[in-house]
Amino acid sequence: TNIAVLVSGRGSNLQSIIDSIESGNIPDARVSVVISDVKNAFALERARNHGIDAVFIDPRTFVDKKAYEQELLRVLGQYDIGLILLAGYMRIVGREVIEAYRNRIINIHPALLPSFMGLHAQKQAFDYGVKVSGCTVHFVDEGMDTGPIILQRAVPVLEGDNADTLAARILEQEHQIFPEAVKLFVEGKLKVEGRIVIRT
Ligand code: GRF
Repeated sequence: TNIAVLVSGRGSNLQSIIDSIESGNIPDARVSVVISDVKNAFALERARNHGIDAVFIDPRTFVDKKAYEQELLRVLGQYDIGLILLAGYMRIVGREVIEAYRNRIINIHPALLPSFMGLHAQKQAFDYGVKVSGCTVHFVDEGMDTGPIILQRAVPVLEGDNADTLAARILEQEHQIFPEAVKLFVEGKLKVEGRIVIRT
């Protein structure tokens, strides 16, 4: 399976996928291209360090979102992509991309969905005062953070935490469950029935 990873930032989740593949945990998978909407995203450097094509698509050079996503589709089309990962990609994926890759786009979110959708989920959870939070890997549909859930992992909120220490505890688990979900997908073990993801 050829994997494309969409990123906007530091790329620690991208790294967890690369490391998992390089250590042989996900046979038959390769990260074929990393695409960023941010020029200086450290994730692009991580890709280059591993000999992976690193592509910056500048959203500001397109008249609208549709044109930007046409370019995204064109680049994806060069790699025979079977799976798209959103790994800290800070844009909502548009309808045409979702339709072209239905149930083949997976996102990692740093909260236990459906709680705390959207930006700064760890801070949202911390400020709300929850005692348990975590992370969610899910298929991407037209909504924001609404698609069928593949894996979740809970972490405790501890005495003395702040939003940053909580985020760090969650991130450790992101780095575990994201590669796990990719492995399940690549092995053909995930079936989507409505909202429910069944492991076969
Ligand atoms: C992670 O917290 C992820 O859950 C969220 O954005 C952050 C990306 O971090 N979607 P990184 O770029 O993978 O280090």
